Amino acid sequence: MRKVLIVGATSAIAQATARLLAAKGDHLFLAGRAAERLEMVRQDLAVRGAASVGVFTIDANDRARHEALLNAAEQAMGGLDTVLIAHGSLPDQRSCETSVEQTLAAIETNALSVITLATLIANRFEACRAGTIAVISSVAGDRGRKSNYVYGASKGMVSLFLQGLRNRLAAVGVQVLTIKPGFVDTPMTAAIPKGGPLWAKPDTIAADILAAIEKKRDVVYLPWFWWGIMLIIRLIPERIFKRLSL
Ligand SMILES: NC(=O)c1ccc[n+]([C@@H]2O[C@H](COP(=O)([O-])OP(=O)(O)OC[C@H]3O[C@@H](n4cnc5c(N)ncnc54)[C@H](OP(=O)(O)O)[C@@H]3O)[C@@H](O)[C@H]2O)c1
Repeated sequence: MRKVLIVGATSAIAQATARLLAAKGDHLFLAGRAAERLEMVRQDLAVRGAASVGVFTIDANDRARHEALLNAAEQAMGGLDTVLIAHGSLPDQRSCETSVEQTLAAIETNALSVITLATLIANRFEACRAGTIAVISSVAGDRGRKSNYVYGASKGMVSLFLQGLRNRLAAVGVQVLTIKPGFVDTPMTAAIPKGGPLWAKPDTIAADILAAIEKKRDVVYLPWFWWGIMLIIRLIPERIFKRLSL
């Protein structure tokens, strides 16, 4: 029975994952900034078999409260062995281009808050030589593109940070899982026209996240075929790539 903290627990992907964890009888502790929706998620998970479900209202950008969040999670569940960091925001790329403020806000939410949390959790898990840190990054972090490079740069920073963290924590048996979804049909992508084989549902991604945690994977592209797509995208020479509209 795991003791799982989920940050950004109102996210569609996080909720779908939490439902699977609840069905397994895990203890859950949910963190998010929208208290009312957090409570609705809590109630839903409580009837799906979770051993316990706690909540903690926090804006992930409030980094000064991250330690308090971890303490609360540990206290509520009698320990902590798994963390899923799921929060994120997709900024309007064009607005970011004319607003340093919006650019930095996106980096704050998607990268700095995640790195702060991961650092604090890593130190706790390193001390007890066990644990899983699973973070939702994105395929967007694999290569900068004009259509979303502010978001992509934030996710790229997270992916690289996690790579180093994994290298550090491998010696003590702590799993650091980088999750790189492609296109997922969630509120985050509500404004984007959907359809076609590249779009996945949160339930599909959630099942793959749980499998990746249980198989102690390091990096997963979700669904799996994004591994091949991103391999090709990364291999395109820069002199050609810079002229493409992707
Ligand atoms: N959807 C995709 O195509 C896709 C692809 C690759 C990666 N991802 C990543 O997957 C993760 C989950 O996103 P999703 O697709 O499930 O979208 P979502 O349902 O829109 O979830 C995003 C979540 O992030 C939370 N959040 C944003 N800023 C926050 C802050 N400052 N403090 C606390 N919570 C904050 C939101 O909280 P509120 O509910 O309060 O707004 C929401 O719960 C994100 O990291 C996203 O970048 C998504």
